[in-house]
Amino acid sequence: MMEFKIKSGRPEKQRSACLVLAVFKDQVLSPAARSIDNVTGNIISSLLKRGDISGETGKMLMLPQIPDIPAERVLLIACGKTAEFNSKKLLKVTAKVIRKLQENNITEATLFLPELIIDNTDIGTRIEQIIIQTTHSNYQPDSLKTKKEEKKSQLRKITLFVPERRDMTAGKQALQDGQAIAAGVKMARELGDLPGNICTPSYLAAQATEIAADFGMKIKVLNEKAMERLSMDALLSVSRGSRQEARLIILEHRGGSKKAAPVVLVGKGLTFDAGGISLKPSSAMDEMKYDMCGGASVLGTMRAIAEMNLSLNVIAIVPSSENLPDGNANRPGDIVTSMSGQTIEILNTDAEGRLILCDALTYAERFKPSTVIDVATLTGACVVALGAHASAVFSKDKSLTEELVNAGNESQDRVWPMPLWDEYNQQLKSNFADMANIGGRKAGAVTAACFLARYTENYDWAHLDIAGTAWLSGSKKGATGRPVRLLCEFLRSRASIA
Ligand code: BES
Ligand code: MN
Ligand code: ZN
Repeated sequence: MMEFKIKSGRPEKQRSACLVLAVFKDQVLSPAARSIDNVTGNIISSLLKRGDISGETGKMLMLPQIPDIPAERVLLIACGKTAEFNSKKLLKVTAKVIRKLQENNITEATLFLPELIIDNTDIGTRIEQIIIQTTHSNYQPDSLKTKKEEKKSQLRKITLFVPERRDMTAGKQALQDGQAIAAGVKMARELGDLPGNICTPSYLAAQATEIAADFGMKIKVLNEKAMERLSMDALLSVSRGSRQEARLIILEHRGGSKKAAPVVLVGKGLTFDAGGISLKPSSAMDEMKYDMCGGASVLGTMRAIAEMNLSLNVIAIVPSSENLPDGNANRPGDIVTSMSGQTIEILNTDAEGRLILCDALTYAERFKPSTVIDVATLTGACVVALGAHASAVFSKDKSLTEELVNAGNESQDRVWPMPLWDEYNQQLKSNFADMANIGGRKAGAVTAACFLARYTENYDWAHLDIAGTAWLSGSKKGATGRPVRLLCEFLRSRASIA
């Protein structure tokens, strides 16, 4: 585990394996770089003058030997034009720096990055973002690798330098919150990256039970028997083709006043989605281990807000199952009755996410929620629509949509609105049941959301489709931990107005 510290004082006096100093285009030095420059015979400004490092964002120069200061090395990181520096670039340069430190086997460093001014941010926000990004970049999915040489060196200690003593108070708060969010993101990634043979519904439930114990939260785990008693036949129908029993995980953080209506987060926890009888093609099917990333992000968010002691009531519901082909699995054409009483014709067994979510969404009603947000890797169509940069948000509530879009911008874990217009509902018509579970080729992400909307009429609701954002493919294959940062930001601003 990495350790973070906040410190102020004189930059030139800092003992560290590496001081990380920012420089800008047109030979502009950050305040800390200026201090070091002054006591080292202008070593930094001469390097800039000679053109040894361009000011282009992300360019770096490692100085292994520097006179007159106790630090062992200096790493210069270029940040582009001073006036154009922003939060996005702060994350980018932080990521670059961490990678460089790892490559150089440096396990301890002092970063002079919090002092870099960005419009509309305070130093606390910047410290938080640096901590979240640093932890993110330091993460390696190697828990199942047994050979040491395949593991990269990891950073152990990062000191974040603040320019003024009076920044220490904001700094220490940001240190706590940043680490809490970073740990939530990390947990979501670790769970996401685990394979389906390890991360099963009961494994997810055990992890949730562990967080509950660690942070004093209430937990309830329903097994299939308990779900049968609640008539969750849509959810159970998906699990019938699996040897692993389904679970419904309910985790409660009661940080608000006793009577305050809770925010309910519902996360799709499909631990492996082979498609069922409507079997998926085999290429990249391994990535369907990530079909529980909605559930993982909801659990990661609960961990984060519990560690932050957020003064808000928040309840997580994670329906968890596998979707596999089997003699007992759903057949195309099967009709099931959801907990809400509405009947569903399952025309494609691969549209299983909405089947497990609809019962979880009906279950959410018992908490008399102020708001319900579900998070799901729901449709391939969403990946086509928005790619990997934004999660989709669907809601009939304009102000809720706005809150989520703002929280996304603030946390740099962005969402973008999509329609839930009534016209799309025609596509869900079934000749034999109240609705079909698929809406045809057109607007697949929208018809999936329209399906869920039929189970959420009794409260304020938003749906996040994270199919394009929850993990990366190719050589960078791995869970991203999205949208933990977004959800934490959303809940934090809810807590601040409560
Ligand atoms: N988990 C998938 C959605 C998915 C697919 C996410 C690929 C990320 C990448 C979901 O259960 C699914 O299979 N959806 C189907 C729905 C279709 C049958 C209407 C899809 O998107 O193809
Ligand atoms: Mn599916
Ligand atoms: Zn799925």
